[in-house]
Amino acid sequence: MASASKVVDVHTHVYPPQYMTILKSRSKVPYVRDTKPGQPSRLIILPGEDDPSSESTAKGRPIGPEYYDINKKIEFMNTHGIDISVISLANPWLDFLDREEAKGLAMDVNDAINSMCEAHPGRLFAFGALPLSAPSADIVDEIHRLPSLKYTRGIIMGTSGLGKGLDDLELDPIYQALEEENLTIFLHPHYGLPKEVFGPRAAEYGHVLPLALGFPLETTIAVSRMILSGVFDRFPKLSVLLAHSGGTLPFLAGRLESCILHDAHYSGPDAKVESRRSIWNILKTNILLDAVVYSELGVRAAATASGADRVLFGTDHPFFPPLEAAEGEEEQKWLSVTTNYKAIQDAFGPEKEQAEAVLGGNAIRLLRLTTD
Ligand code: URA
Ligand code: ZN
Repeated sequence: MASASKVVDVHTHVYPPQYMTILKSRSKVPYVRDTKPGQPSRLIILPGEDDPSSESTAKGRPIGPEYYDINKKIEFMNTHGIDISVISLANPWLDFLDREEAKGLAMDVNDAINSMCEAHPGRLFAFGALPLSAPSADIVDEIHRLPSLKYTRGIIMGTSGLGKGLDDLELDPIYQALEEENLTIFLHPHYGLPKEVFGPRAAEYGHVLPLALGFPLETTIAVSRMILSGVFDRFPKLSVLLAHSGGTLPFLAGRLESCILHDAHYSGPDAKVESRRSIWNILKTNILLDAVVYSELGVRAAATASGADRVLFGTDHPFFPPLEAAEGEEEQKWLSVTTNYKAIQDAFGPEKEQAEAVLGGNAIRLLRLTTD
């Protein structure tokens, strides 16, 4: 899609060298496994992905330099007309680290990702990662250090929090520090749903059920728990960017709100919750939605729920590459990216200004993607 204004990718991942070293040194998930000579190594990160009882194609994915070489990211951006990328560590982030090592590694990874941005001024900004297995004070310290990294604008986080999910009251000091530092949380799935949900034949369907449904439902449940537990009432300025257009939140927000209005815990004479903001208000004030949803319908739902001024283009690079390289084409455009471009174009039609805002203007404004 040709556009005079800037295109910004807010959903794009990288594994810096320190993180690759850890993945290569491990033999349980998450890890990188060498395969036959001449074949790419495989990245095994999802829960249960290396289950020996399954003969699935779901045993990881090939991993090449597009996962760790920032020059490959820049090439990908150039091929797809992306001016700026806000890079983030890919899942499972630092969630699996021991308590003692988490803080040091978080600092190393956040410094390394910020240095990648420094090497390509104007093209890259970053979401940092938090040492969520470290003591709470260390997590808060790292949040307060992040603004000293010139290109860091927020943090990427999964749905497990400190181990009990994002409605855990022990997360309040962390939400408070993030709110104080004006750092956006990029909330991204990893853990999916319990495998029983997908039935005994799940392995026959590759990654489709966990990625297409497990991931978005995980995000939906996580943010719903934040809303229900009053996180946005206690931290009214907290900003949360939801991966994959909020999972199913835009579609189910009405049902969530209605269930709240019909639940004696929240509403009516015996309500235990004194006051709360409506989901519609939170969607338009605290929530940002990426546009990684691959359909016009999904982009429209996101823009209706949060406003076209709060939806942000993304790619999910380096995940979802073309399965086969087209012959004779060196720099092939990725179907996963062209589908998302088309979804935005179709969703807004003649409303070119809204499409341009989603493609880049919103990200530049909301994430302050300037360095002056
Ligand atoms: N699969 C993953 O594990 N992570 C992503 O971000 C996308 C697909
Ligand atoms: Zn992603």
